[in-house]
Amino acid sequence: MKGLILSGGKGTRLYPLTYTRAKQLIPVANKPILFRVIDAIRDAGIDEIGIVIGDTGPEIREAVGSGDRFGVKVTFIPQEAPLGLAHAVKISQDFLGEDRFVMFLGDNVIQGGISPLIADFANHHDWNSQIVLTRVDHPEQYGVAQLTAGGRIERLVEKPKEPLSDLALVGIYMFDHHIFEATAAIKPSWRGELEITDAIQWLVDHGYQVFPHIHTGWWIDTGRPDDMLTANSLVLEELTPEIRGYVDSGSSVDTRVTVEKGAEVIGSTIRGPAIIGEGTRIVNSYVGPFTSIYHHVTIENCEIEHSIVLENSTLCDIDTRIQGSLIGRNVELHRSPIRPRALKLTLGDYSKVGLL
Ligand code: G1P
Repeated sequence: MKGLILSGGKGTRLYPLTYTRAKQLIPVANKPILFRVIDAIRDAGIDEIGIVIGDTGPEIREAVGSGDRFGVKVTFIPQEAPLGLAHAVKISQDFLGEDRFVMFLGDNVIQGGISPLIADFANHHDWNSQIVLTRVDHPEQYGVAQLTAGGRIERLVEKPKEPLSDLALVGIYMFDHHIFEATAAIKPSWRGELEITDAIQWLVDHGYQVFPHIHTGWWIDTGRPDDMLTANSLVLEELTPEIRGYVDSGSSVDTRVTVEKGAEVIGSTIRGPAIIGEGTRIVNSYVGPFTSIYHHVTIENCEIEHSIVLENSTLCDIDTRIQGSLIGRNVELHRSPIRPRALKLTLGDYSKVGLL
């Protein structure tokens, strides 16, 4: 089998972070989501992966490289415009050939990986496709499936105004080469995209064997900042803690905390689950649960929890606790020593600041 990762989206709902960084490269528990997806596919025994890229292609190519560091061979497949998930499959036909494959959206995070799913599909040679469904609160935001009483797929609709059920299509799909007949036959939807949901419906309508798997663990489509923080919390809960950096005797570090190499924790309290990145310094501060501080960050005289801080940022002398925040790269947040005491802000477009 081969793997196909879709990594072309712009991430508009994550502005301003995604003005300067592909959303798939934003780290969750200090590892970019795209790297988690590559690892999950590799762990399922697949070592040939195609990555469909768009405007952020150069950045993704640079971050992933040849795939060697993940133990896989990566082929990049440029998509000239975001014309839909089924369009991405269509343009990947040369790469996929006659092989069965798993398609995984590069901004999705799923509990438990995909190894059992892949094994299931690999063991059923007569299955043309397997899709993953999960119960959600707002099915109208997803592709939705209606099943028969016997649990087979009856109907699939992309973002229905009146949902047929609460079973959403998770961004993980398995196909054989018959999917190319479907992607050639369907027409663009109202949003101008070739929808994978319509392509799967085409398979069902034409008598191909499509089987649903109902996923019961968590699954996050990291479209918005809150999804990012939720994914971060869930992944942190599953991390095996490790202290590879320096923690001084004046610090108190919980058992569920990872301190990466070259990090320093001085006179601080870290309550897990949390991760402190390479080369980061936490001085005289409190880092609370569900927090990921990425590489080369400085946090001094601050309190922060339920947050993500990206690389090279500095947070100093803030006397209000920072919570539920997503802080980008090279950000400086500090109390100004100069009077008058006022807010002095340089914020990018679409920044969001919640003041006391
Ligand atoms: C896409 C699919 C949708 C699926 C969702 C999962 O939606 O079209 O069927 O439920 O991914 O994340 P999009 O992210 O393009 O809105």
